[in-house]
Amino acid sequence: MKKPLAAILLFTLCSSAVMAKSAFTDAADSVQYRQSAFQLIRHNMVDIGDMVKGEVNYDAARVAKRATALATLTTLPWEAFTVPGAEQGGGDAKAAIWQNLQDFTSRGEKLAADAQLLKTAADSGDQAEIRKAFGSFARNCKACHDDYKN
Ligand code: HEC
Repeated sequence: MKKPLAAILLFTLCSSAVMAKSAFTDAADSVQYRQSAFQLIRHNMVDIGDMVKGEVNYDAARVAKRATALATLTTLPWEAFTVPGAEQGGGDAKAAIWQNLQDFTSRGEKLAADAQLLKTAADSGDQAEIRKAFGSFARNCKACHDDYKN
């Protein structure tokens, strides 16, 4: 009975060590992660925007694909603002983020919730609904950048 107990103990120690490590090697790595996520958000959003504005032919499947991507992508950046040292990684994030972290992360959650509504509209294929949902979604960007991005 001694061996399995030791094995369990070792496993427990190892898994707690694994859990303590974040997905980021250091602060600069977390900045790269959040900036990459924002870039992907931008690409997917602009493509829907072009269709909403009529600059590109409307394609229901393409809108649905972009909106599905946005529903996931908009959940990604926020974690990279809350890991220890995230405020020291450089980038264009204002110090105000960490003085108002709750407001900042709730705005991030609002963006993700609006992305879900956009996905629902996109899946319905109703262009008027898509236009409305897209407008609400897009308003989040500038509002947050004005307060929290250099
Ligand atoms: C809750 C706040 C918040 C919201 C909402 C938000 N952003 Fe940002 N965004 C930031 C911050 C902060 C940065 C700076 C990140 C950094 O440099 O560390 C940023 C950076 C960016 C960047 C530059 C990334 C780079 O490569 O440096 C792009 C592009 C961007 N955001 C696009 C968007 C778009 C498009 C939306 C809306 C769909 C959006 N953001 C919504 C806070 C937000």
